[in-house]
Amino acid sequence: MSNKAIITSALPYANGEIHLGHVASTYLPADITTRYLKLKGVEAYYICASDDFGTPILLQAEREKKSPEEYVKFWNKRDYDDFAAFGIKFDFFYRTSSPENVEFVQNVFKKLNKNNHIYEKEIVQFYCQFDKKFLPDRYVIGTCPHCKAEDQYSDLCEKCGRVPEEIENPRCSICKNPPIKEKTKHYFFKLTNFVENLNEWLENSPHLQKDVKKYVQNWIQDGLVDWDITRDITWGVTIPLEDAKDQVFYGWFDNHLAYISSTIKFLKDKGLDGKAFWNLADIYHFIGKDIVYHHYLFLPAMRIGIEKEYKLPDYIPTRGHLMLQSKKISKSRNWYIGLRDFLTLYPADYLRFYLALITPYSQDDLNFDWDEFAARINSELIGNLGNFVNRALGFTQKSFAGVVPSKDEFDDIDKEAEDKIKNLSYSVGELLAQNNIDRALKKILEFSANFNQYFQHKEPWKNGKGTNNCVYLSVNAARSIAIALFPFLPESAEKIWEQLNLKDKVYEQKWDSISELGIKPNHKLGAISPLFKKVEESEIKSYKAKLGA
Ligand code: MF3
Ligand code: ZN
Repeated sequence: MSNKAIITSALPYANGEIHLGHVASTYLPADITTRYLKLKGVEAYYICASDDFGTPILLQAEREKKSPEEYVKFWNKRDYDDFAAFGIKFDFFYRTSSPENVEFVQNVFKKLNKNNHIYEKEIVQFYCQFDKKFLPDRYVIGTCPHCKAEDQYSDLCEKCGRVPEEIENPRCSICKNPPIKEKTKHYFFKLTNFVENLNEWLENSPHLQKDVKKYVQNWIQDGLVDWDITRDITWGVTIPLEDAKDQVFYGWFDNHLAYISSTIKFLKDKGLDGKAFWNLADIYHFIGKDIVYHHYLFLPAMRIGIEKEYKLPDYIPTRGHLMLQSKKISKSRNWYIGLRDFLTLYPADYLRFYLALITPYSQDDLNFDWDEFAARINSELIGNLGNFVNRALGFTQKSFAGVVPSKDEFDDIDKEAEDKIKNLSYSVGELLAQNNIDRALKKILEFSANFNQYFQHKEPWKNGKGTNNCVYLSVNAARSIAIALFPFLPESAEKIWEQLNLKDKVYEQKWDSISELGIKPNHKLGAISPLFKKVEESEIKSYKAKLGA
């Protein structure tokens, strides 16, 4: 592990609100990882940006009669605010339309061009005579040639999921008239130049997910095709060549470069050399499984094409999609829950807890289920973890006036409990380092369940011989829980920390100190109160009804 890290998560399109599907697979795992690395003493920065360019955004801005600049500015801020309310703590949130990214993208293109990875080719494109524009991607609607679904976009059929080679009965999505075909010159990125390099990189990257690697290797074997990186629209990074003044880059050419350009900008403002930092750091790109092709092929090929001036990713944690009540999330069919809406119902930590618990390190899809949400919060977060912390601290308050007693000699059961504290930082930390956030959180729950049993077994309320040790160790276990929990549930961890009345902030602690008995006899606790409030069945019922579930 390097002592430096850059963590990114797939840049959200500046084109609509963040919903539960976004955060489960990408932003929450990245946030948990960053918080963990920081506690480990790694100089880690979580960098993100809004993905501002592309045809869908231009179209939507036109529909709302806004300039694209104005439109993306709104969503950039709105997304950032929603993430913040959910406890997603970016060190920097920028935008792909920043002057720094535009300049960076143009420079990368020039270098790729100089290195013979770019060529020009004349292609035939739809053109609308009425609107006087070329019609890429979503500007054309028509019938899917595969499944015959009507009113599909030319770049993706939402019915069958395929990318039509050529849509049938094409119509301009603005004026609905049939377009004509016009010739236009486009630039292509020679992905086929990189077969060997990509294979070698995949082979020699021990931290990439094995299953994902396998099917990317299969794609390569089946044959790659060169990539059209030009769009005949006005909203995008302009192509820095005389011949192409009216053309822009395809959004997927420029967006991932904002990982780098935003990092450099952020570090430059701190007085640091961004390139040097990037190349010394462990690089993490958290993504959902729908954008594997872009992150395992285009992105590394482009970095290789500029002679690895910026190192390739070490980790590309790739996770599946979140379903809602076992059905695919769809904004157009109104089958989704907005992040902002959810946070008016329950604290961020409830959602972080549930999602972290059901999100494995794999491409398997996950499922948000209201009943399961209620059950997990009530039995595991509250019944197990919250109950233990409140019991240990509440008992100390009531029976010892909040003052931690001195300890006696440990018996075997005390020693076992002490060992559990000593092992916690390692057992949870290892799992987090391997991206297994769900299993890491379960380890913490296992720990508090063990301490619940210990407390129950020792019966300190009888004030017998083992009482002091039980209280002393239980209060220390609560301290360990607070630190270990911080990456997952930052607000709750801070609450426990306050109740423990400990110095500094919980996020200023060292991860490895989880294993210490950091609270000494005679320490006085703060005010104690329950950490969580139960989720009521009647509430869940009404949310399900509202959704139509
Ligand atoms: N905006 C894209 C999406 O939501 C993700 C872009 S990630 C990037 O699918 F790195 F490529 F920018
Ligand atoms: Zn038209």
